[in-house]
Amino acid sequence: MSSRLFLTLAAAAVALSACGPAKAPAGVSLSWAYIDAPKQPLPEAPPGPLHVPGSKLTFTGEQINKGDIQVDWFPDEHPKPPAVIVQARKDGPDACAECHMVTGQGYIGTPNLAGLPAAYIVQQVEEFRSGRRASWEHDRPATHEIIEVAKKVSDEELAQAAAYFSALPKLPRYRVVEATQAPATHPNYYGWFELTPGAPPQLTGPRVIEVADDFDRMMLGDPHAGVTAYAAPGAIARGEALVKAGGHNGQPCAACHGADLRGMGDTPALAGRSAAYLARMLWDIKTGARAGPAVTSMQAPTAHLNEADIADVVAYLASLPPARPAPSASGADKEVAP
Ligand code: HEC
Ligand code: HEC
Repeated sequence: MSSRLFLTLAAAAVALSACGPAKAPAGVSLSWAYIDAPKQPLPEAPPGPLHVPGSKLTFTGEQINKGDIQVDWFPDEHPKPPAVIVQARKDGPDACAECHMVTGQGYIGTPNLAGLPAAYIVQQVEEFRSGRRASWEHDRPATHEIIEVAKKVSDEELAQAAAYFSALPKLPRYRVVEATQAPATHPNYYGWFELTPGAPPQLTGPRVIEVADDFDRMMLGDPHAGVTAYAAPGAIARGEALVKAGGHNGQPCAACHGADLRGMGDTPALAGRSAAYLARMLWDIKTGARAGPAVTSMQAPTAHLNEADIADVVAYLASLPPARPAPSASGADKEVAP
């Protein structure tokens, strides 16, 4: 991730630090999804040549910190991006890749756009621009940033960005581990968890603790860097039951999101996406922070969900493979490799 992003985000965090986070209703915290970030400057990339496993390319910390390039470690794995993805425009939006990566997957606090329907991408940016899509945590710096982008991006740039992101392959990134304990974490910089080596483990419970396996690799924009989501024992099976039963109107999630939950028509995919992001969206929609006509069909499915249900549902969704299995040379089914 370019340090230009670090600096933009730090400035937003400082500017907004006067307002506190939204007050949760009694019994609800969702602090594992709306992670309260310390308001502190974000670090720069270390100086000198930098590498990530499997890439022959080198970027220097100086290049990254200057912020005028978007790192692209595996240019052969995706089509050539249009300018809006990789270049900030004067008086225009920041480069989409700065926050969503050139592969569309996003960092930890930003959603994966790879393979989402183009019409959905356009419509969501229009919702941010119109003010109908906001965050329940009303001063969430990350949401504030995409709202600024949405106000500055031209319709033509947006159409190009949507066409690019929607054509990208959906890559697996998440591993869901059910356990009573998870490694110790602390919130880092911008609302992400980072591992705290040496500290005693924490209890899981009715929440999902999502953490980059290697925070530095993630920060460098390595699209192959993995993320582990720790959930309570039984969460995946309980989540599966809720997803299959559907909302209080009895309509299963698959009726609109597709049989494999990998998206259908213009309805977005849920399979193999970030548990923390999906949890925020379910709560944003349930509470009306993400509102407007486009999201009406999601009101019944979210109305009955409490925090523990949301943790179960998103543990299940994150555990699903994001893409169709590709037939391997031996004829046996194999998931599309990262
Ligand atoms: C400075 C960071 C930043 C930049 C630059 C940025 N985004 Fe985002 N984007 C975000 C964040 C953060 C969210 C999630 C907001 C939330 O969780 O409330 C988001 C959400 C989205 C979503 C909604 C995804 C979904 O699944 O509903 C779309 C679509 C999107 N961005 C498109 C774009 C496009 C197109 C560009 C470039 C023109 C762009 N973004 C540039 C930070 C950014
Ligand atoms: C009647 C159709 C319908 C059903 C049933 C439905 N959804 Fe949705 N869902 C949608 C639509 C349409 C959107 C996109 C909303 C928008 O455009 O803002 C959406 C969006 C979402 C999002 C936000 C995704 C993103 O990228 O930001 C999540 C999360 C979600 N649904 C989860 C669920 C879950 C979990 C269930 C079952 C409990 C469910 N949905 C059932 C139609 C449905």
